[in-house]
Amino acid sequence: MVSEYLEQPTEGTPAEVTGSAQPTVIECRSAWVKYGDNPAVKDVTLDFPAKQVTSLIGPSGCGKSTLLRSFNRMNDFIPGIKIEGQILYHGRDLYGREVDPVEVRRRIGMVFQKPNPFPKSIFQNIVWGPMINGLAPRSGRKAWQQELVQRCLEGAALWDEVKDRLHESGLSLSGGQQQRLCIARALAMDPEVILMDEPCSALDPRSTLRIEDLIDELRTRFTIIIVTHNMQQAARVSDLTAFLYEGNLVEHGPTQKIFTNPDQKQTEEYITGRFG
Ligand SMILES: Nc1ncnc2c1ncn2[C@@H]1O[C@H](COP(=O)(O)OP(=O)(O)OP(=O)(O)O)[C@@H](O)[C@H]1O
Ligand SMILES: [Mg+2]
Repeated sequence: MVSEYLEQPTEGTPAEVTGSAQPTVIECRSAWVKYGDNPAVKDVTLDFPAKQVTSLIGPSGCGKSTLLRSFNRMNDFIPGIKIEGQILYHGRDLYGREVDPVEVRRRIGMVFQKPNPFPKSIFQNIVWGPMINGLAPRSGRKAWQQELVQRCLEGAALWDEVKDRLHESGLSLSGGQQQRLCIARALAMDPEVILMDEPCSALDPRSTLRIEDLIDELRTRFTIIIVTHNMQQAARVSDLTAFLYEGNLVEHGPTQKIFTNPDQKQTEEYITGRFG
């Protein structure tokens, strides 16, 4: 079975590039992502250690979203997409024939730039995914759903604001609340990794800080990869930062180092706002 294939324990490979003590969860080995013949990600070798937050930064069009989407096979939906090299999840090829992309997306959840709750109640936004994926128990469903909804909304720091209106539409929430609902919805699938593509770019500064605080809480339980154009945000939320330019990985390392003493001149120019 596919899920068993992904579940087989593997020896955690130590993260080579970062020197992190945590085992590697996702690993790119000479990965290329092409739209037809046009490469958007070029020969990227990069690893993502468990329970660390990694920021992907770089100017518009440098391939951040393309790379991020390749980690949970969201790119599969784009005609003409080609992946070369390897993208591994716990040492196993995410694009291997045995791998079920639906199972991949359950384990590696995603939060998008624009909050996109389902046009359903807050409650249904949380329970729908686990229900259609068969994660619900056969008996005691109602209690299970209630517990799930509360746990996920608490996990996304939204429970107190919505506990009295769980059956109102998710679309009735503010933008910042909708984004936290989308995070709660991702948590409901019991993922290991959460990918976030500019999750705060449509939010006001206060909602942005709430999401950043939330990321800080989630980091102890999840591996998080976040794309951001906001350098302060990358510096605040991430343990590790990878800088991409025109599809190439220029530099990767501890966020503190990338922001204070990068090895590459290009990195320094980008983070100090000289281009991009
Ligand atoms: N669906 C697509 N079809 C063809 N080319 C695409 C597609 N999506 C992205 N590209 C191209 O791939 C390159 C990388 O795009 P991508 O969206 O990954 O960049 P990005 O770093 O996320 O940019 P931004 O910061 O603006 O979101 C760009 O040249 C873009 O035009
Ligand atoms: Mg993008």
